[in-house]
Amino acid sequence: MINKAFEPFARNAWYLAAWSEELEDSPVGRTIMNEPIVFFRDANGRPAALEDRCCHRGAPLSQGRVVESGIECGYHGLIFDGYGICVEIPGTDKVPPQTMVRSYPLVERQEFIWIWMGDPGQVDENMVIDFPFHDQPNKWPHRKDMFLIKSNYIMMIDNLMDLSHLGYVHRKTIGGNPSAHVAAEMEVTPTETGVRYVRWMLDAPSPPSYVKAANLRGNVDRWWDLEYVVPSSVLQWTGAINTGKGAKENQDQPGFHTRVFHGATPETENTFHYFW
Ligand code: FES
Ligand SMILES: [Fe+2]
Repeated sequence: MINKAFEPFARNAWYLAAWSEELEDSPVGRTIMNEPIVFFRDANGRPAALEDRCCHRGAPLSQGRVVESGIECGYHGLIFDGYGICVEIPGTDKVPPQTMVRSYPLVERQEFIWIWMGDPGQVDENMVIDFPFHDQPNKWPHRKDMFLIKSNYIMMIDNLMDLSHLGYVHRKTIGGNPSAHVAAEMEVTPTETGVRYVRWMLDAPSPPSYVKAANLRGNVDRWWDLEYVVPSSVLQWTGAINTGKGAKENQDQPGFHTRVFHGATPETENTFHYFW
């Protein structure tokens, strides 16, 4: 039962829980919104998320192992399927029907595993954010990573939605000349699910990372296009094209282009998993 007066999280939303590739043969334990959860794939390859606490003596299921019929508790061997139902108790063929652990709704899409931490009656798969660029690895090759960061997750949203730090924190890499950032044109648009802004820096020096990654030299027209989707996602499209080629009219030209999905999933009130 959630005490709404003290609820620090927006629960009725999808949060990034893992990269698809993290779930192989071993269970993965991860705390989200103060709730310890075990993730694994069942025999059909379907991802599952269960409360990471066996209903027998409370052992963490993430310390057990994945078996044909589900996840086996490492303490006394109870087995739970991907829905949290106990399917086997060693030494008896009678499994009381109430023997189960909580399961969480998941959606696996575009290399992400999303989890719903709220009211199961309000689950809406249409709310999962579409990021089709992960379906085009040749056009948009990408790394996958996750950090545990010691702050409230909203500080990451604040960081990404206020890029005035780029010219200072990232001067020698993706930022470059700070004055180009100060002079950027800024267009802000409210969206159905959050807010989007586009920052254009016209006729600005190509920043060091763009020179290195794409051999993009001289002056460029640069853009930073970021969209915040509440409560915890930021979609980034960044690029640059040599000045004089009409970048603002046509961004689909050779130059430097990158798309990044940023997901900030609360672990606790003071820590979060940063997927990028
Ligand atoms: S604590 Fe899990 S089987 Fe006993
Ligand atoms: Fe930054």
